Amino acid sequence: MDLKTLYERALEASSKTYSPYSSFPVGAAVLLADGTVITGTNVENRSYGLTNCAERTAIFTAVAQGYKTFTAIAIAAPKADYPVSPCGACRQVMSEFAPETVPVVFGSSWEQRVETTIGKLFPYDSLHELSEK
Ligand code: THU
Repeated sequence: MDLKTLYERALEASSKTYSPYSSFPVGAAVLLADGTVITGTNVENRSYGLTNCAERTAIFTAVAQGYKTFTAIAIAAPKADYPVSPCGACRQVMSEFAPETVPVVFGSSWEQRVETTIGKLFPYDSLHELSEK
């Protein structure tokens, strides 16, 4: 599957947002090696710090369904007027489940997007040796 199709899945997922506090919908779509796509959206809470970003929702859902790695991730924030990049927590979580070469695309639309990689978003990654593979 190409990145544009994956981005479209992320955009669709953003319509499922629970973001009554920010009114800022975000959708994410992760591509798995077998071609499966798993999506997520941001889920907020009246205790604001409990918010889960779309990226982590998608990745945690994939893990809960038995996947331990993904091959691409797309993130759509359609209300933004520029491409909003993943937060630090999400970059850390992405790095847990995919190698640094994995493509990441984020944008407010396909026309207004950034294409990068996990390694560029989260350089000097370390301590993978702590996990039991
Ligand atoms: N948000 C995401 O879900 N992903 C991002 O990459 C940026 C921020 C969410 C968190 C919160 O619900 C809202 O966007 C505003 O920050």
